[in-house]
Amino acid sequence: MNDLILETHDLWEDFSEKKVLNNLSFKLKRGTFLSIVGENGVGKTTLIRIILGQLKPTHGSVEFFPSRKAIKIGYVPQFRNIDDEYPLSVKNFVGLNFSGYKLPWLNHEEKQRLNEVLQQTNLIKIENEPLGRTSGGEKQRAYLAQALVNHPDLLILDESTASLDPVAKEDLLELVKQLNQTTGVTVISVTHDIPLAKQYSTEFLLLKPDGYECGPINELNISDYQGGQEHV
Ligand SMILES: Nc1ncnc2c1ncn2[C@@H]1O[C@H](COP(=O)(O)OP(=O)(O)O)[C@@H](O)[C@H]1O
Ligand SMILES: [Mg+2]
Repeated sequence: MNDLILETHDLWEDFSEKKVLNNLSFKLKRGTFLSIVGENGVGKTTLIRIILGQLKPTHGSVEFFPSRKAIKIGYVPQFRNIDDEYPLSVKNFVGLNFSGYKLPWLNHEEKQRLNEVLQQTNLIKIENEPLGRTSGGEKQRAYLAQALVNHPDLLILDESTASLDPVAKEDLLELVKQLNQTTGVTVISVTHDIPLAKQYSTEFLLLKPDGYECGPINELNISDYQGGQEHV
């Protein structure tokens, strides 16, 4: 049996200014917690967008097993515009993501699932607070909860911990690791934080301006990594 969830074949992206990803071919097994690391501008978000189907690669392809249609992806993007005045409650924000969201209200099953993910992400106590008024860590948990409502097979987090304090970073990754271990969801986490990547993930993909490396997380050599500081 093939236990891969996806495989990339010879990927690169040619932007007018520069070419990113260097004939990237890598395999991702189901249940893995993968950290994608690499300096700013090396192509991490570009790779995520290609996996999501938002961007067509200039060359190469992404193959999903058993098929793209059969894989549900939950995605937490790198940037979000939630200001202090954002009016939706935590609960209503998380509920925005139900697939086939056609009606302005949720059905019984959706309400149950919403309650379940709010429990899992420890948001029940603040479910009725406006999202705009919550802390950075609570917002990231709400984004995570929103990505989880549809029971994804693959959860993608793009620098979710970048703006958080050290305690909130660990809390968020601990939660993701727990989900990974209990539900078997495959995780791709883009990060600049090598110690945290080593603490929580099982595999790494290091993108470099002239190539890439991948393997079990204990083989990621910090001295190989030329990455900058975390940024928001
Ligand atoms: N749509 C685009 N058009 C032109 N250049 C882009 C586009 N998207 C990204 N780039 C460039 O490609 C490089 C990689 O971007 P990105 O994947 O966002 O990097 P990372 O997430 O690793 O910081 C950057 O130099 C960026 O400016
Ligand atoms: Mg990025």
